[in-house]
Amino acid sequence: MNAVSSRNSFVVYPLVMQAVGGEFRAAPMKAESYDLDALAERVDGRTLCVFIANPNNPTGTIVTRGDLDRFFAAIPAETLVVMDEAYFEYVESPDYPDGLEFLKSGRNVMVLRTFSKIYGLAGLRIGYGFARPEIIDALNRVREPFNTGSLAQAAALAALGDDAHVDKSLAVNREGRNYLYGALKGLGLAVTPTEANFIWIDTGRDEKVLYEALLREGVIVRPMGGGHLRITIGLPEENERLVEALTKVLSPG
Ligand SMILES: Cc1ncc(COP(=O)(O)O)c(C=O)c1O
Repeated sequence: MNAVSSRNSFVVYPLVMQAVGGEFRAAPMKAESYDLDALAERVDGRTLCVFIANPNNPTGTIVTRGDLDRFFAAIPAETLVVMDEAYFEYVESPDYPDGLEFLKSGRNVMVLRTFSKIYGLAGLRIGYGFARPEIIDALNRVREPFNTGSLAQAAALAALGDDAHVDKSLAVNREGRNYLYGALKGLGLAVTPTEANFIWIDTGRDEKVLYEALLREGVIVRPMGGGHLRITIGLPEENERLVEALTKVLSPG
């Protein structure tokens, strides 16, 4: 049994395959994005599912509707494709596909969403998903009976009606993203355009050294290897603090 995904994607996918004793097939990427052709090549009769994080964590990139149409045409109709849309609410690109469209059109898709991101309820551990009845039935047979709490469910229901919070979070994220694009580029760092609430940057140097130096300035970013940092977009004052700290640790002497 195997699962197919992309090399630089959400760390939990290889972990869950390790936990069930399956093989994890990581396809190479096309620049900072999923290469769906490379994923399709790795799907075979023993593929349990394909994981697609859209947008992708940690790079913030998306696969488009056209990319997915081609991908579905290239794989067997019955392959289960898990569309992990944890950052769904942040996306502004008109080419972004809603995974539910593929489920409704008859594909074997599972769409996953969460209250951890734009709704800010990560500590309550609640999310939701959509799939064919037989997939949900299989999940129900193996899930723990009490896997979420009444408090989390009450908060999630309230969050679904709180459009003002979502609108505000989107606006704060958009403003922070545009500010950081300019500031980071101004510092000579290569920025990958993001559709999520974090930015993937290529620092062109040992990012662990930068990460440690930023920690000493009281700013936490994520060192990702290969010179890359993932930076969360914060409130305006937090973004400014990050840029100040980065400016300091990047300036020689
Ligand atoms: C792509 C992706 N999927 C899922 C999750 C986890 O979401 P939850 O907090 O609902 O487990 C994350 C969080 O880091 C993520 O980046």
